[in-house]
Amino acid sequence: MPNATLCFQFIDMEKFVSVWSDGKTLPESYIFPPEHRPGDLIVPSSIHSVPIIDLELDDHAHLVSQVFEASQDYGCFQVINHGVSRTLMDEARRVIQEFFQLPIEGVSKFLSNDDNQKCILYTSSPEYYNEGVHCWRDVLRVKCAPLEECMPFWPDKPAKYRYNLTYNWPPHLYGDPFEIHSMERSPHKYVTKVNEVGSRLLELMCEGLGLDPKYIANELSLEHNLTINHYPACPDPRLTLGVGKHSDKTVITILMQGDVPGFQVFKDGEWVGVDPIPDCDALVVNLGYISQIVSNGKLRNGDHRAVTNAKVARQSAALFIQPTPNCYIEPAKPLLNAENPPLYRGFWFHEYLRAHAEDTEKFISLWLDGKIVPESCIFPPDQRRGDLIVPKSGDSVPVIGMRKAKTYDPAHLIHQIMQASQEYGCFQVINHGVPTRLMDEVRDIFKEFFELPVEDLSRYCSTDDKGNAFCTRALSTMTTKSFTTRRMFLKCAPLEECVPSWPERPAKFRDVIAEYAVKVNEMGSSVMKLICKGLGLEPKYLAKELSLEPNLVVNHYPTCADPRPTLGISKHSDRSVITILMQGDVPGLQVLKDREWIGVESIPDGFAILLGNMSQASRQSSALFILPTPDCFIEPAKPLVHAENPPLYRGFRFHEYFLAHTEARRAKFSGSVLKTFRIN
Ligand code: OGA
Ligand code: NI
Repeated sequence: MPNATLCFQFIDMEKFVSVWSDGKTLPESYIFPPEHRPGDLIVPSSIHSVPIIDLELDDHAHLVSQVFEASQDYGCFQVINHGVSRTLMDEARRVIQEFFQLPIEGVSKFLSNDDNQKCILYTSSPEYYNEGVHCWRDVLRVKCAPLEECMPFWPDKPAKYRYNLTYNWPPHLYGDPFEIHSMERSPHKYVTKVNEVGSRLLELMCEGLGLDPKYIANELSLEHNLTINHYPACPDPRLTLGVGKHSDKTVITILMQGDVPGFQVFKDGEWVGVDPIPDCDALVVNLGYISQIVSNGKLRNGDHRAVTNAKVARQSAALFIQPTPNCYIEPAKPLLNAENPPLYRGFWFHEYLRAHAEDTEKFISLWLDGKIVPESCIFPPDQRRGDLIVPKSGDSVPVIGMRKAKTYDPAHLIHQIMQASQEYGCFQVINHGVPTRLMDEVRDIFKEFFELPVEDLSRYCSTDDKGNAFCTRALSTMTTKSFTTRRMFLKCAPLEECVPSWPERPAKFRDVIAEYAVKVNEMGSSVMKLICKGLGLEPKYLAKELSLEPNLVVNHYPTCADPRPTLGISKHSDRSVITILMQGDVPGLQVLKDREWIGVESIPDGFAILLGNMSQASRQSSALFILPTPDCFIEPAKPLVHAENPPLYRGFRFHEYFLAHTEARRAKFSGSVLKTFRIN
C-alpha cells in the first residue's frame, strides 16, 4: 500500500488568511451559508451568560454543584482564581502572538494537516481541501503529552527568524525585533499549569456525577493538545466565522482568550457570548463529546463557535484534554442500571478521530446490540435494501466447479468463468482445493476473535490506518453509515514477515490463518490464470505484468434489528484485481447486475469471486484481496490493444488510483473512480 502520507495534500502558506488578506476583501469561499452567518449578533444581546466559577471557593460541596450544574446546563463555564498566574498567561499570550508574526520561511516547515504530527500549522481546518467553506483563522497545534517528548518538536526560538525580513507575515503585526522569546519557554509552563486546572475540574465533574473523583484520570484524559488560533481582523465579520459551530472531540477544553471577545456557546437555540472578564484572566471551559458519553448524557457537550472581529486580530489557545487513541470510550458503568440504560455505544477513540466532523453526531448516536437501528445508520431510500433480503429474482450468480475429477474440461471452465465475469463481475466456486476443514476452522477463529473482550481487541487497534491504508495490525470500524461493521486488515505479503504481527489469540490464529492465506492465494492464482487464458493472454500475464500482493480483510457485521433501511457495507467496487470472499453460512453479499441486486447465496464451502466488485453484506466474512503493489504500473494489456480495440484507459501507477479512490470517497463522489483514467 502507498505510504499513508500520500493521502495528505500540501497546504501552502499562501492560503493562510494572515498571509493573503489585505483586510479589505472577503472571498466567496469564506462566506458561510445564511443560516450559519453570525449576522449582527456579534455581541449577543442575550440576557444569558455562562456561569463564572471561583475555584478558590471554600465550600467544596457548593463548588461541586456549581461545576455540575454549569456542565448540565451549558456544557460551558468560565473559571477564575484558577491558579494560573497572570504573568504566565501574559507570557504565553505574548509568545503566541509573536509566533504568528514570524517570517514565513521560519514557520513553513510546520505546514501540515496530519494530526499525528507533534506540531502542525494549517489554515481553517485540516480538511481545507474538502471543506465547503473556509474558516477565518490560521492554526498552530502542538501535542503536549508527554511533554518532554513533544517539546523538541515545537517551534524553537522565534527570535532567530526575526531578523530575516525578506518575506514576512504581515508587517503591521510585526513586533520589536530585539526581544527574544522562545515558544518552548512559556507554553510548557502554561500547559502544565492549565493541566492542573483540568485535572481538578475533572475531579469536580466526577464528584458531581457520583463517580470516583479519579474516574477520568487515566487514558480517558491523558492526551493533551494545545490548539493556538489566530483570527486576523476580518473585513466583514457578519458573513464569516473564525470557526463554525462545533463541539470538541475532548473530555474538556480549556481556552484562554485575550481581551478580544469572540467565543460563543449555543444554548437553547441561541448564541451566548462568553466574553473576557476584565482583570480576572478567566479561562473558558467547555465540555466535549467524551464527557457527554462517559456521563451517559448527564453532562452535555457545549456547541460553540468563534466570531471574527473587524478591528483587531484575536488569538486564543485551547488546551484539548482528550483520551489516548486506544482508549475505549463508553458510558461509565457505575452510572448504568435498569432506569439508566446506556445511551451510547462503546467505541475506540481512534475510530472516532477518523470520523469526519460532520459525522460526529452520527458517530456517537445510540446503537445497542442490534436492538434499534439508529438514525445514523439509515440510508437514503434509493440506497436501501428494503425487503430485498432474500431477493425474489430468479437470477443467481453462477456456481462453478473448479476441479471435478472426471468431467474436468478446462475449456468449459474458462468459458464459464469468462461468461460470469462479463455478465456479473462475480461467480462462486466450489471444489476449489481449499479444504472444508480449514474453512470451518477459519470461520470459528474469526468468530472467536471478534467475541474477545473489548480490552483484548483494543490491543489490535491501530492508528496507522489513515486513509484506509492497509496495515499489519489493525482493527477498525467503518466510520461511515455502516459504522457498526468492524473490520480487521491482515497484510499477507510477505507472509513470514506479516504473521508475527497478527493477533496471537485465539490460540491457533496465526497457524490456521497463514495456511488459509496460502491456500486461498493459490486458488486465486489459478483463477487469474484461467481469466488470462479466457482473454487470450498468456496464463501468467496478470501475475507477471502486475506485481500482486494478497491482503486479508475480515468483516464482522453485528446482528441488526431492522436490516431493511441499513447496510453492512454499501455499494462499492474493490480496489483489487480479484477478491475471494468466504461469506460463511449467513447470506448477505449482493451484486448489482442490470440495475438489480442479486443475492449471492451462501454455500458453506464455496467462495465468491468478485471482479470490479459491487457488494453489500451483513454478517461475518473474510475477503482475500489480491492487489497490485503501490508502484505497479497498470494499463490495458498490450496484447489486447490494437486498431479496433484502442485502449480505453490510460496507464497509471496503483498508488495514483488508490489516492483517487480515497479522495473520491472524501469528496463523497459517487461515480466510478475508473472514469478518472478513462480515455475518451
Ligand atoms: C477550537 C475553538 C474557539 C476560540 O479551537 O476548537 O473552538 O475562541 N476555538 O478560539
Ligand atoms: Ni472548539
